[in-house]
Amino acid sequence: VISVPVELGPRRYEVLVGPGVRHELGRVLAERLAGRAERAAVVTQAAVEAAGWLADLDVGTPYDVTVVPDGEQAKSMAVVEQLCRTFARNGLGRRDAVVAVGGGVVTDTAGFAAASYHRGVAYLNVATTLLAQVDAAIGGKTGVDLPEGKNLVGAFWQPAAVLCDTEVLATLPAREWTCGRGEMAKYAFLGQGPPDASLLALPLDEQVARCVALKAQVVAGDEREGGGREVLNYGHTLAHALEAAAFDGRGDLPHGQAVAIGLVFAALLARRLGRIDDERVALHRRVIGGFDLMAALPAGADPEALVELMARDKKARHDLTFVLDGPAGVELVHGVGRADVLATLTEMGAWR
Ligand SMILES: NC(=O)c1ccc[n+]([C@@H]2O[C@H](COP(=O)([O-])OP(=O)(O)OC[C@H]3O[C@@H](n4cnc5c(N)ncnc54)[C@H](O)[C@@H]3O)[C@@H](O)[C@H]2O)c1
Repeated sequence: VISVPVELGPRRYEVLVGPGVRHELGRVLAERLAGRAERAAVVTQAAVEAAGWLADLDVGTPYDVTVVPDGEQAKSMAVVEQLCRTFARNGLGRRDAVVAVGGGVVTDTAGFAAASYHRGVAYLNVATTLLAQVDAAIGGKTGVDLPEGKNLVGAFWQPAAVLCDTEVLATLPAREWTCGRGEMAKYAFLGQGPPDASLLALPLDEQVARCVALKAQVVAGDEREGGGREVLNYGHTLAHALEAAAFDGRGDLPHGQAVAIGLVFAALLARRLGRIDDERVALHRRVIGGFDLMAALPAGADPEALVELMARDKKARHDLTFVLDGPAGVELVHGVGRADVLATLTEMGAWR
């Protein structure tokens, strides 16, 4: 088991990574809550339960299981209300705990319910998707969507611990592997020191742990998005535009694949702006390829429409803003020229 601390002073916690670490739940919960939890509310999804990952769960206290619906639509105020009402009916007290067992949808929603119920009860994440293990379950950003937009309501509420059991990934569908791999590729370019492709050569649990350590480092430096945490959006500006754009074939574009395209785009744009050299661009392509992801724009994607969408990205206030690689590493760059962005998108080429 690899233990990675998230250094947040009084809110410090550990992320445990390795095959079978879900079995540490009872011990970790008792330790972190100093034995005061008398019961727990386990929140999960049908696919996780069907895969058998709850069957041998040792919570260490009596617990109830609540299954939330599948997909992004489960991240709603209605589901949070249902969860809190269920907690109340089951007698969950302010010293008790919520345990989220699932991917990012479950950890975001259950985390926000925990942040709100009794004005905040403890919660632990047992992350069961690769994306949740390397990203969503760590860092304390919890929340749900509104019809008006994604993640519009939420709270910074740190978990008491995160368990990343690599064994449970055995049942993860191929599409969800792609989602997680796109985020993993991003981490190859974050952190101190020049990036390299060494992440690719590690065994899975060490890959996950290295990504967790990078996320933990960024979160510890900027718990509430005051400045610094935006590097986690590397590759995401174009990814969000691709996800928002309407074109043939977009429907089956997994988030991680969109991020991979966004990473290669960001590298080409950085080269065009004189921030990085050919070798660094090649490294981006090597990492993307190593994670079995495509590096070109999907067929039918319209560069003009993508530029429009990126100009409206919430991270860009009045101009085109990107997280870009450079001599000092990955950082936020404002005021990128529209012509450079368009030329880079055109340079990327398309699938098929
Ligand atoms: N809070 C953050 O910092 C943060 C960061 C990144 C992403 N997110 C959020 O995470 C969400 C996406 O999370 P996700 O990619 O984990 O998707 P997800 O939570 O929707 O899970 C994908 C699917 O896999 C199933 N599943 C989960 N674990 C499984 C397993 N071990 N075996 C079989 N099936 C399993 C789920 O039931 C679901 O159907 C988005 O809503 C995104 O906004 C949050």
